[in-house]
Amino acid sequence: MNQTIRPLRFGHLSIWPPFVAAPIAGYTDGIYREILRESGCPFCYTEMISARGLVLGGQATLALLEHSDKDRPLAVQLFGSDPDDMFNAVQKINQPGAQFDAIDINMGCPARKITSQGAGGALLRDIPKAVEIVQAVKSASGLPVSVKMRIGWANGAGAVEIASRLQDAGADMLAVHGRTVAQGYGGKANWDEISRIAASVNIPSSQFAFPP
Ligand SMILES: Cc1cc2nc3c(=O)[nH]c(=O)nc-3n(C[C@H](O)[C@H](O)[C@H](O)COP(=O)(O)O)c2cc1C
Repeated sequence: MNQTIRPLRFGHLSIWPPFVAAPIAGYTDGIYREILRESGCPFCYTEMISARGLVLGGQATLALLEHSDKDRPLAVQLFGSDPDDMFNAVQKINQPGAQFDAIDINMGCPARKITSQGAGGALLRDIPKAVEIVQAVKSASGLPVSVKMRIGWANGAGAVEIASRLQDAGADMLAVHGRTVAQGYGGKANWDEISRIAASVNIPSSQFAFPP
């Protein structure tokens, strides 16, 4: 294979080498990310953070934003189901001097306590709401916006259409977890579907960072 590996261009950011560390709730805290940075990781996400929690200003939620100066560029991963909450949370984060570089929207979490609120992976069955959320987050700051999605709710049908709607709504990058929400973390990831989604959009997507 003679393929030139290029930096990952995410909004105005240029990420080199073109790899990002996947967000993992309960693991990718500030300490874990510092270890990743020491090992050369060029881009990290916070743990998944509740937009509503940020708006309400709970100490435990705000603590999830803490990070060292070296922990950059850093994306804040938000979950929520209310576009106003998402907008207000981003405005709260993006104060002058804020040390964040991007916002990521979680549209993949399969946990019942998240999907029962209409957040995480549940947004993949409510595309108008998902689109509204991307638009709200985009309009709340000048930061690049990405979406972490799955290949669908219970089957892969429609994932290409969903990706295109998210792109049209203003997403600057998509990261695709190659399982349906119903699959949770079990079974095989569907790399063909990741590839189809990546080929269907013009913004960077998983295949860009991980060529087959
Ligand atoms: C314990 C655990 C927690 C995770 N937490 C998050 C999360 O908070 N946000 C997110 O977008 N993805 C989360 N993920 C999904 C991963 O980022 C990743 O997309 C997924 O594991 C697919 O990679 P794989 O095919 O190598 O398993 C989590 C995965 C695991 C196993």
